[in-house]
Amino acid sequence: MTKKLYIETHGCQMNVADSQTIVDSLRESFDITETSNPDESDIMVMNTCSVREKPQEKVFSELGRWRAVKEKRPGVIIAVGGCVASQEGENIIKRAPYVDIIFGPQTLHRLPKLIASHCHSNQPIIDISFPEHEKFDQAPSRQSRSPAAFVSIMEGCSKYCSFCIVPYTRGDEFSKAFELVIKECQLLAKKGVKEINFLGQNVNDYQSSFQGNTIRLADLIQYVASLDGIERIRYTTSHPQAFSQDLIDAYEHVPELTSHLHLPVQSGSNRILREMKRGYEVELFEEQVAKLRAIRPNICISTDLIIGFPGESHEDFMETVSLIKRIKFDHSFSFIYSKRPGTPAADLPDPISEEEKKERLKIVQSLIQDQADEISQGMIGKTEYVLFENISKKSSGEVCGRTENCRYVNAPGDSSLIGKILPVRILSANRHFLKGVLV
Ligand code: SAM
Ligand code: F3S
Repeated sequence: MTKKLYIETHGCQMNVADSQTIVDSLRESFDITETSNPDESDIMVMNTCSVREKPQEKVFSELGRWRAVKEKRPGVIIAVGGCVASQEGENIIKRAPYVDIIFGPQTLHRLPKLIASHCHSNQPIIDISFPEHEKFDQAPSRQSRSPAAFVSIMEGCSKYCSFCIVPYTRGDEFSKAFELVIKECQLLAKKGVKEINFLGQNVNDYQSSFQGNTIRLADLIQYVASLDGIERIRYTTSHPQAFSQDLIDAYEHVPELTSHLHLPVQSGSNRILREMKRGYEVELFEEQVAKLRAIRPNICISTDLIIGFPGESHEDFMETVSLIKRIKFDHSFSFIYSKRPGTPAADLPDPISEEEKKERLKIVQSLIQDQADEISQGMIGKTEYVLFENISKKSSGEVCGRTENCRYVNAPGDSSLIGKILPVRILSANRHFLKGVLV
């Protein structure tokens, strides 16, 4: 009998990609359809995030609601995965005894087996181990859901920034074998995928080997760009410390590489960067951006910022503001520092008030929004290449796609345009999307 799956994803793109893998691997083992209504589901999966405290706390409040579903329908299987599961393990079952399965970011491909064991034993099952490579080697075959696809090329992180929980919840970094990445990209291309986004915590640390040669991210980009059907390549996230010259050179030689880069800087103050154990200074970051802009003058740069890191003075904060203006960041994921238990920064004195931190965050976000608006306004009258991905939610006579610099564009057209990259003249821009016409 068909089982209904309700899956909820918290956090970053990494988790979105992991959730797709969870759905694909459940599909390979069971007759499954997805539902958006938890009350009619047979399997409920929560893919959690613990990068900050708020999403972590959300897990338990959300599980309280899931308990009500289980009370009405005791046969429902509840599985909790992701970084909170990895961190809390059996504590989740202690706090929420109606949870049946706990799995980690590196064991999500085992979920069908964990479900089978639970059904057999009727006992809670916990598997939060870190088996290296198994997640890649046993990955289910990919369903393509859109002409733009994520391809995970690395797992884990070994950088141990002083504020970050990820190395503890996802384990040390390891790369997917080159042949596996190529095979996955070829399959996606055959299914109509035009844009590949390589995914990992620090994809510019990617390293594999092929026929005796070392393959790094720049090499991988070049290989994938040569595959039939692949017209756009992105990657996220990369780290300034490992942003090497060969990767910068790729912007010169590989037109498929988009003129949009997400490069997390975290702070504009060298003192704070040292405390964060980031391993680079602001000057290196600016040098990298300058080199990129010498090759691609219009490249848009987005970043991650942590506001109110312990001990961040007014001067430190103003250095971040100044860097935002100098780089003209186009977008940011900026959040107030969140204390993560077990990380070195959690022990640092933190005298700045919450009000002050909120005020600083507001300043940063509104500055970056103004810069993004200015860039969008500057696109009016220009021709942009848009990868059309779906029919517009607002009007069935329009299709929606993304420019190289990740602006959503609506243009008159029908479903025959989906999956194509076409030139569009931009007519207007607001904060959320652009409007244009095909040229
Ligand atoms: N690999 C990326 C890099 O080079 O920085 C980052 C990956 S991390 C999972 C995503 C983002 O979460 C970080 O860039 C950082 O801005 C944010 N983050 C991580 N720990 C945080 C914390 N304790 N408080 C606030 N933000 C945090
Ligand atoms: Fe976290 Fe730093 Fe790695 S932010 S994911 S420890 S690069």
